[in-house]
Amino acid sequence: MRLIVTESYEQSAYLSAQMILDVIREKADALVGLATGTTPLSVYRYMTEAVQQKKADFGKVRTINLDEYIGLSGEDPNSYLYFMRKHLLDACQIPSERIMIPNGMADVQEEIYRMNLFADANPIDVQLLSVGVNGHIGFNEPSDVFYDRYHAVKLAQKTRESNSRLFSSVEEVPTEAITMGAGGIMRAKKIVFLATGDEKLDAMKKILEDGEVTPDCQGTILKFHQDCTIFLDQALAEHIRPASYVEVKRAR
Ligand code: F6R
Repeated sequence: MRLIVTESYEQSAYLSAQMILDVIREKADALVGLATGTTPLSVYRYMTEAVQQKKADFGKVRTINLDEYIGLSGEDPNSYLYFMRKHLLDACQIPSERIMIPNGMADVQEEIYRMNLFADANPIDVQLLSVGVNGHIGFNEPSDVFYDRYHAVKLAQKTRESNSRLFSSVEEVPTEAITMGAGGIMRAKKIVFLATGDEKLDAMKKILEDGEVTPDCQGTILKFHQDCTIFLDQALAEHIRPASYVEVKRAR
């Protein structure tokens, strides 16, 4: 695990985007694992700018998303497909046949099967990640176990409350989602992880400090990943004492 301490969230996002773009420059048809939420927004802006300025070519790039709400169609502004089209995919002209994201309106078991069939045959070259206030990665909520592959989950109340900022009320936030399992996330060849904000401190301490790997804080499994880079701005990082095995660097 590598921790890069940045001056600001914007620098974390810029450097995260550069890491992903470097993978795409090395491998034109890279499979890029994407996340939604507030944290990756600037990452997607920097990636889009690179494409528009012809500093990167997404002509063969393939994408796969971590998760989608069950019950929301891709036309719904709160769906993750809608989010991805708005913030990255449309501007980078990635056609539907190169986009894998669970369909929130399909039969759940069939959709899980479809996602797993693809994921089993197509290793992720680089996965962008952030973390929930309760330590979730993807929608892998605190649990007694780590799930391996895509599966259906019941969303934790804390997650629904946190995500209700994007809906008109907490009742409108779907109660279930399809998510890649922690095992699938761990199989990504490279992980680019960023977090910002005091509300993520508790989870980031559990992930970076000495302590157990526990499904109660799913992000702790990243301690075992062989190529995981975490970008944290100074304001968050200064409250964390990384374990001795974490390679810590300051961003230049
Ligand atoms: C979303 C996802 C989630 C988010 C997490 C943080 O695809 O997988 O794990 O990364 O909930 O969300 P934000 O960035 O909105 O705080």
